[in-house]
Amino acid sequence: MLMHIASSLLAPYVAVTAGELFDKLEYPPQKELGDVSLPCFAFAKTMRLAPQKIAEQFAERINADQSAVRALAVGGYLNLFFQADHWKSDIVASASETSYGHSDIGKGKRVLIDMSSPNIAKPFGIGHLRSTMIGNALVNLYRATGHEVINVNHLGDWGTQFGKLIVAYRKWGSRVELELAPIKESLRLYVKFHEEVEREPALEDEAREAFARLEQGDPETRDLWQYFVDESMKEFHKVYDRLGVSFDHFTGESFYNDKIDAVVRELREKALLEESEGAQIVRLEEQELPPCLILKKDGSTIYAVRDLATAMYRKQALGADSILYVVGAEQTLHFQQVFSVLGKMGYTWAEQCRHVPFGLMTVNGKKMSTRKGKVVFLEEVLDEAVQRALDIIDEKNPHLPDKQTVAEAVGVGAVIFGDLKHHRQLSVDFNLEEAVSFDGETGPYLQYTHARICALLRKGDYEVLQGEHFVNGAHLSSETAWECLKTLSRYDAALQEALRDHEPFAVARFLLDLAKAFNRFYNSGKIIADDADKTEVLSKLSLAAAVANVLKDGLGLLGIKAPREM
Ligand code: ARG
Repeated sequence: MLMHIASSLLAPYVAVTAGELFDKLEYPPQKELGDVSLPCFAFAKTMRLAPQKIAEQFAERINADQSAVRALAVGGYLNLFFQADHWKSDIVASASETSYGHSDIGKGKRVLIDMSSPNIAKPFGIGHLRSTMIGNALVNLYRATGHEVINVNHLGDWGTQFGKLIVAYRKWGSRVELELAPIKESLRLYVKFHEEVEREPALEDEAREAFARLEQGDPETRDLWQYFVDESMKEFHKVYDRLGVSFDHFTGESFYNDKIDAVVRELREKALLEESEGAQIVRLEEQELPPCLILKKDGSTIYAVRDLATAMYRKQALGADSILYVVGAEQTLHFQQVFSVLGKMGYTWAEQCRHVPFGLMTVNGKKMSTRKGKVVFLEEVLDEAVQRALDIIDEKNPHLPDKQTVAEAVGVGAVIFGDLKHHRQLSVDFNLEEAVSFDGETGPYLQYTHARICALLRKGDYEVLQGEHFVNGAHLSSETAWECLKTLSRYDAALQEALRDHEPFAVARFLLDLAKAFNRFYNSGKIIADDADKTEVLSKLSLAAAVANVLKDGLGLLGIKAPREM
């Protein structure tokens, strides 16, 4: 918000539009350097003056006719200090609005977000959690900034692994076991296959044949496959319900089965397809990438060609202006190849396809791998987080009504925040005890700050006071109040940063700053006292209410609930 005010305020002096100015403004690293600053280096050429001189000229003129800000030139930067008294009530009023910080900058743009995309007949590992939660936060952020979003779950429901599963089921599986615990049993079969294949390499060929039969539509193989898909979907839906995530489309890889021939034909017509050792490939030498494999020797399709068909469908049938793929960093090469092949096919929109990679995640130091059967199940992680949250609530607030629901929101929120508070490219080792703690940089800390504000507002009869008195910014004169207000005013900038970099982390970081700034204000003096002036109480409570509003909204964007009591 301060940036917006600063850009319209500075525009007439600098002679560029407020919009252009907005992009140039920065938040200084230390508060001694002001609230917002404008680097003047870029003007040096046109104005034929040293940046410091330019900053001084601007500062002089601004100080001569503006009373709401003070300007100071330092080392080529024009630093603006907002005069607290002037802005306090404005910030409180805007930050109390429901969609404060949201905008419509993305109006008219359709963004497709490919997210979550677990593999059928395998457990939903905590690795897919990252894609689901980062993806979900991006969906919310894009919507909050006016974009039209289509989110798609590109289920891994096709590929040679089904050949393996089918062979393993026929050899070592039983319907009874499978019906009892479909995913666990499929996983056991999958692991068994990989053990057996070491001894009996011919199993690989059998699996390839089984998959080829599936691709050709053999009814019996198809039925078995459908069964695996249906059972997996039941499990996935349980997880999505708990996480509060929904999808516009569940179009997995198999959906593109009948769209692949056309792609292969087009590649051939455009003279991009080459034979190499019996397989069909597209060379990507100019892109300095290894060739992209399109069809295997036996003609069966692979991941990459399905992604080509998928991207074309999304562009042509769904009308996506841009496509984001929220997928682990280990698939970077795959997406470089897919986007490059699209580019070679002459599709300039390939530039609008973006891989949004993220690092690995371990839980309490444990890696996840389906192959060797060492898997950490997301549901178990969530259950444990919820149990820990319940233990803390039992201790802190034993009489809380509906404890289980609150514990669910806190435990699940802790897991989500434990992920999103990191730069997505970093590897995360997830420590449950730390993540669920009510102190420190955690989701529960934010939820707790929010719930405490709700309690404060109830205790202080905020709603009654609101009807009887007016907020007076003069009562928010302390340093801690002003710091809290200034932090509040940065919400829109945090959302835009998160959107620009595809980093929900920016929102998580902002919320921690806000909660800390609020707690410093809260701890610096009593807000509700019997003999206190009512306008003063109301003014302070409105700051608290604005903070609660923004905490709730920000947590919501990250996909985390904010209970009113905990
Ligand atoms: N199912 C894949 C996996 O778990 C992720 C799919 C990502 N989306 C895509 N269009 N390739 O590795």
